[in-house]
Amino acid sequence: MSAPPKTVLVATPDEEASIRAAVRRAEGRLVAGPDHVGGLLALLSDPRVSDPIYDLPRPITIESVALWVAESEALRQEGRCILAVSLDEAGKVSGYSRFSIWPERASGELAGARRADLQNSGAGRQGVAHSISWMFEALGLRLIGLTAALDNVRSAKAIDGAGFLRMGEVESVKPDGTTRRSAYWELTRTQWERLHRL
Ligand SMILES: CC(C)(COP(=O)(O)OP(=O)(O)OC[C@H]1O[C@@H](n2cnc3c(N)ncnc32)[C@H](O)[C@@H]1OP(=O)(O)O)[C@@H](O)C(=O)NCCC(=O)NCCS
Repeated sequence: MSAPPKTVLVATPDEEASIRAAVRRAEGRLVAGPDHVGGLLALLSDPRVSDPIYDLPRPITIESVALWVAESEALRQEGRCILAVSLDEAGKVSGYSRFSIWPERASGELAGARRADLQNSGAGRQGVAHSISWMFEALGLRLIGLTAALDNVRSAKAIDGAGFLRMGEVESVKPDGTTRRSAYWELTRTQWERLHRL
């Protein structure tokens, strides 16, 4: 399951409350709801989309996806998660992002994927950069930790490109309890602000 960053920050009570409120607002994101379950099932049924992602519900069925959407929404009400979708011009689900938030640590994690026909366009790299900015600016986080499968070259390039620092490897735990070795990165808001003011 999604794991908090290795580095442990402690949020002030005000900071924690403000992060929880921002997660509940999820301003600027299309939060996944029951109407998106069919579209998410179609998206995630493609192994080119779902295979590299360790924290998806498996097997991927209409029931498991519906439960995942409902559980993510319950966590959003606690200020801990945002499952967001993107739609194509025809209104079909063409990608998703799942933000895991630890408000008491002012920290978060991000997972996501784009439909196969939209991969390798350079937009994934831009999407990662945009989501990172949003997590620091709109949610008010101070630290983001990210993981990727050791052979996920595209993710690694997008994460390195966004300015994240490699901090070794971690054992990611899948929902069924088995593990996957992952490359691990962190970026603080201060580091990110420095990168963008240069
Ligand atoms: C990961 C993902 C969001 C990236 O989006 P994308 O649009 O495919 O990626 P981009 O076209 O922006 O490419 C990212 C980088 O990888 C590079 N790249 C792409 N294919 C490559 C390959 N076969 N070998 C080496 N580099 C490659 C690109 O040149 C780019 O590098 P740059 O930033 O230095 O220009 C998308 O591929 C995806 O949804 N994959 C499936 C799910 C997944 O892996 N999710 C992430 C889990 S951590």
